[in-house]
Amino acid sequence: MSSSPASSPASAPSHNQLDTKAQAWSALFSEPMSDLVKRYTSSVFFDKRLWQADIAGSLAHAGMLAAQGIISAQDHASIERGMAQITQEIESGAFEWKLDLEDVHLNIEARLTQLVGDAGKRLHTGRSRNDQVATDVRLWLRGEIDLIADLLKELQGSLVDVAERNVDVILPGFTHLQVAQPVSFAHHMLAYVEMFARDADRMQDVRRRVNVLPLGSAALAGTTYPLDRERVARTLGMDGVCQNSLDAVSDRDFAIEFTAAASLCMVHVSRLSEELIIWMSQNFGFIRIADRFTTGSSIMPQKKNPDVPELARGKTGRVVGHLMGLITLMKGQPLAYNKDNQEDKEPLFDTVDTLKDTLRIFAEMVGGQLDPATGRKEGGITVNPEAMEQAAKKGYATATDLADYLVKKGLPFRDAHETVAHAVKAATSHGVDLSELPLAVLQGFHPAIEKDVFDALSLRGSLNARNTLGGTAPAQVRAQLARHRARLG
Ligand code: ARG
Repeated sequence: MSSSPASSPASAPSHNQLDTKAQAWSALFSEPMSDLVKRYTSSVFFDKRLWQADIAGSLAHAGMLAAQGIISAQDHASIERGMAQITQEIESGAFEWKLDLEDVHLNIEARLTQLVGDAGKRLHTGRSRNDQVATDVRLWLRGEIDLIADLLKELQGSLVDVAERNVDVILPGFTHLQVAQPVSFAHHMLAYVEMFARDADRMQDVRRRVNVLPLGSAALAGTTYPLDRERVARTLGMDGVCQNSLDAVSDRDFAIEFTAAASLCMVHVSRLSEELIIWMSQNFGFIRIADRFTTGSSIMPQKKNPDVPELARGKTGRVVGHLMGLITLMKGQPLAYNKDNQEDKEPLFDTVDTLKDTLRIFAEMVGGQLDPATGRKEGGITVNPEAMEQAAKKGYATATDLADYLVKKGLPFRDAHETVAHAVKAATSHGVDLSELPLAVLQGFHPAIEKDVFDALSLRGSLNARNTLGGTAPAQVRAQLARHRARLG
């Protein structure tokens, strides 16, 4: 109990209660914490979000304490009863979160003690908030990773849906944002499926290292009680137990890796966003997205702005910023726990929220929304194949095919390349595509050119010819589609 003159005997809480933070630290303190410091150090208004994980961790710990004979079965039952009531209070909004009690852990423990008395005070036996908070964050993050995995699957499914409808649609493929070679629009969509599949993989990999139990490390050195940490890990569905108490309470590398994986995922989203924005512009006109993902302008009546992809592109910066924040937070921290680590939560929470919202909205924007009447998804990306084809033709997208044609006729590739450069120059000056030059003109560039050159010069011929594994020929794209369908289930 604080010996502060501020706490008059009349207002002093009973010994069964833990109403203010001063009580958590006991008699050592000679003055109460200033309000400013209270606000500065308290985390309850953001870490209350961990409440479910906190209660799950406490129940697993209490069950183990009872099984090991460290607390009585009766105390265990009281703790379970108290936690059930607290769960209900939090769910119904009746729970009173107190800034004075600093964080989610002290808030819940104080309420438990209020409800069940001494049994509540025994819960913290063999435990510290240091191993408690590390456990809570891991448990919470594990759940979020599983939700993100589902969303990543959904987004991949949406991209596969769009791809399936557009295998034969020809898009000018770009390098340096200059028309390069024709590709199947589906092939382009499936490139993003590959990226998001790797993101999902990375998340699973991160999950393996998140799902390890710090509890039982206590403050930093382990504890004098005969804990059964493996049992707690099993109860919580964790894959293992942290093997060094100092490391367990202090490192937040798992949060950093998660945020790195999230950053990469957002970077992929930002690339897709950028393409959607370009493709939607009047100068391209390749695609449309549903109106509900666009906004108008307050001054220019003709505008439909791609706000959703633009915001996603912007939010990528925010998530990458969180990665920088977290990694800098960890840098130079001496072992073991330091209060710095309380700063892990807001960036982590915001990363999860931003990523989940973004994936959810992209899955719908790309693939559409399920129409219960038809059982089909409606309102996803729609494409304008004519605009794409025009753009491909304008950019001499089949110039490489003419060079390859000449190589097949026996020319060394470098010579063929040079010959085609001349042909492109001539076509440019006439304002036509290579395929629109008369045969006689083409033969002027090289006598080996024959009538069959027009197969090579057509966009479709060019596409069909790239029939190697991973290439854009529709046969290859269909094979990849089948693989993704099977993989995504
Ligand atoms: N709210 C704290 C955090 O988020 C819990 C751990 C506090 N531990 C301590 N020794 N002050 O990190």
